[in-house]
Amino acid sequence: MNVLITGGAGFIGSHVVRLFVENYPEYHIYNLDNLTYAGNLENLKDIERQSNYTFLKADITDETHINELFETYKFERVIHLAAESHVDRSITDPLAFVKTNVIGTMILLNSFKKLWSNNYEGKLFYHVSTDEVYGTLGVTGLFTENTSYDPNSPYSASKASSDHFVRAYGETYGIPYVITNCSNNYGQNQFPEKLIPLFINNILEEKPLPVYGDGNYTRDWLYVQDHAKAIDLVFHKCALGETYNIGGFNEWKNIDLVKLLCQQMDEKLNKPKGTSEQLITFVKDRPGHDLRYAIDASKINKELGWKPSVTFEEGLSKTIDWYLNNDEWLNHVTSGEYQTYYQTQYN
Ligand code: NAD
Ligand code: TYD
Repeated sequence: MNVLITGGAGFIGSHVVRLFVENYPEYHIYNLDNLTYAGNLENLKDIERQSNYTFLKADITDETHINELFETYKFERVIHLAAESHVDRSITDPLAFVKTNVIGTMILLNSFKKLWSNNYEGKLFYHVSTDEVYGTLGVTGLFTENTSYDPNSPYSASKASSDHFVRAYGETYGIPYVITNCSNNYGQNQFPEKLIPLFINNILEEKPLPVYGDGNYTRDWLYVQDHAKAIDLVFHKCALGETYNIGGFNEWKNIDLVKLLCQQMDEKLNKPKGTSEQLITFVKDRPGHDLRYAIDASKINKELGWKPSVTFEEGLSKTIDWYLNNDEWLNHVTSGEYQTYYQTQYN
């Protein structure tokens, strides 16, 4: 089976690519990515020579190229992760998010339809999305698969739009699809613009830890390898045309999470208790900041038997260890464009 994974050089995509390359030697895995600032082939060094793996450098918004690649490689199943993924960047440059997340998804859908519309038997378009499409929760409640879409950021609006197009292509053209909406991921290889790796890097550099607003915003955190395992299960066992929510059953207020991170960092760096916490700095809030995300993952749990395997304390500890042991990776990704981004975002 020829499986196309888009965005495989990014954070979550690289874990999904590795899992599929290692566990399914009978599949050929094509990783399609145009290596934006967030894409990094260093994430896949350990598997790049496997005979069932091929990297294709391509932009999902380049219709001609994407059509050619579908024609050439006859991708039977697609796991679509390529996206612009950071809320703060979407506030600065929303159009980039429409181009990649909406138009890029449309181009993939069209190429997939063009190739297989005569017979969709055994084919799948798997769209990987986020819980942010549901907007924000108050202090109680959980997002279920039936929660109405109500996105608040340009990022979540672009992901919501792409979800709608995938579903519309299912209804209108009969494309076999599945969508998963997952909560905040963390783990190794995450670009240090997102909360956890940003703060790990700042602690290492003894820079302020910029907590937005009062820090009382809540997220539901999932270890990235547990997300990759959920994607594997959904890919093989899903009911077509369904949506599954994926979450960590693991809510944290930002400020509490940051304090736990600071404690673990102090222990690992042999610093006196309380050292890293002194770096916490409350800064101007993110516009349109969603108060709380929390996922009801009972459907995927009951129907497919998935549940997270790692506690947050364990996952966070493993994540920190990985960043401490991979300073070369961190140095590469924080040079160049990152410095400009950081100055613009935080100064
Ligand atoms: P990421 O930003 O780390 O990686 C995105 C990848 O897509 C990069 O490798 C980048 O080079 C590639 N890409 C971007 N634009 C492209 C284009 N035009 N053509 C080809 N490739 C392109 O993102 P991530 O955090 O790994 O997220 C992956 C997917 O999972 C996204 O669709 C995101 O919306 C979704 N998601 C992320 C989270 C999370 O917490 N990170 C949670 C739920 C869902
Ligand atoms: P982030 O990792 O950007 O994920 P998302 O916005 O998709 O949830 O942010 C997680 C939470 O951390 C969110 O409430 C915003 C907050 N945050 C900060 O307080 N400071 C920061 O510098 C960043 C990047 C995020």
